[in-house]
Amino acid sequence: MRIFVTGATGGIGSAVVRELIEAGHQVVGLARSDNSAAALTAAGAEVHRGSLDDLDSLHSGATAADGVIHLAFNNDFIDYASAVAADLRAVEAMGAALVGSGKPFVITSGTLMVMPGRMATEEDPGLAGLPRVEAENAALELAKCGVRSAVVRLAPCVHDADRQGFASLLIGLARDKGVSAYIGDGSNRWPAVHRLDAAHLFRLAVESAPAGSRLHGVGEEGIRFRDIAAAIGSHLNLAVVSISREEADKHFGWFAQVVSTDNPTSSALTQERLGWRPDGPTLIADIEQAQ
Ligand SMILES: NC(=O)c1ccc[n+]([C@@H]2O[C@H](COP(=O)([O-])OP(=O)(O)OC[C@H]3O[C@@H](n4cnc5c(N)ncnc54)[C@H](OP(=O)(O)O)[C@@H]3O)[C@@H](O)[C@H]2O)c1
Repeated sequence: MRIFVTGATGGIGSAVVRELIEAGHQVVGLARSDNSAAALTAAGAEVHRGSLDDLDSLHSGATAADGVIHLAFNNDFIDYASAVAADLRAVEAMGAALVGSGKPFVITSGTLMVMPGRMATEEDPGLAGLPRVEAENAALELAKCGVRSAVVRLAPCVHDADRQGFASLLIGLARDKGVSAYIGDGSNRWPAVHRLDAAHLFRLAVESAPAGSRLHGVGEEGIRFRDIAAAIGSHLNLAVVSISREEADKHFGWFAQVVSTDNPTSSALTQERLGWRPDGPTLIADIEQAQ
């Protein structure tokens, strides 16, 4: 297949590009700068110039492809609402280009978009009001209009030895504060997935996910937060401390809500439907390698 990939130069997207090319697909990557275009060419992909804010570029990229994987997202968290709105517009623009085509359209969301506090499954809809749920729902609706759409919800820590997703933020914060903290007894859980397992899942999804499926990019269902904090403390040689929910806002800032979330998430249905078997190193093993 000739697959249009947005976010193809990102941490996850670059692994997806490699995975697709190695499996014999052609990749056309969205590039908003000369640097990104050069990186794509070096990776063996074609370049489609444009950006998330240039909806015509997204429409034409999707129209010319046999399938689309959408990973681009402005991850700087400074203006998250704008990033979420841009993501929704991008999903709508590419979705409109694919209506009636039967082509696959795989978009990206997160496991944090479901009900916390119990094991989430692929059957769980996104919780209304949470950031990326509108984009999830827009993509899933496209299944009724002749698009083989699927949503991949990624764990908050997509990791390898170089980058650990949200755990990288925790590592930076622990360095700044001089302690590695968890909230209360730290028994809340975060799922995780290795970057190469996630890339493999995106390939399987674009090749064969049924229309309208929610897929969970989760290799480890729920790692206790205090174990993550302990691994960071041990790796950085810092004290590991419990803080109260009240202290958490000051310590973690905007991130406190995510840090306190209990987000155990199953990928059993994803594994069964697609034959996906995540087997990469664990998050704790990759934290031990972190720079
Ligand atoms: N990493 C994780 O642990 C994690 C966890 C859950 C969900 N996710 C989601 O997974 C997806 C990929 O994440 P990632 O970690 O690979 O992100 P990343 O490393 O920050 O890469 C972001 C990608 O999006 C592109 N991009 C950003 N803004 C753009 C714009 N306005 N126009 C065009 N391209 C733009 C970037 O292009 P440039 O090369 O031009 O900058 C880059 O290719 C995102 O949707 C993210 O929210 C990630």
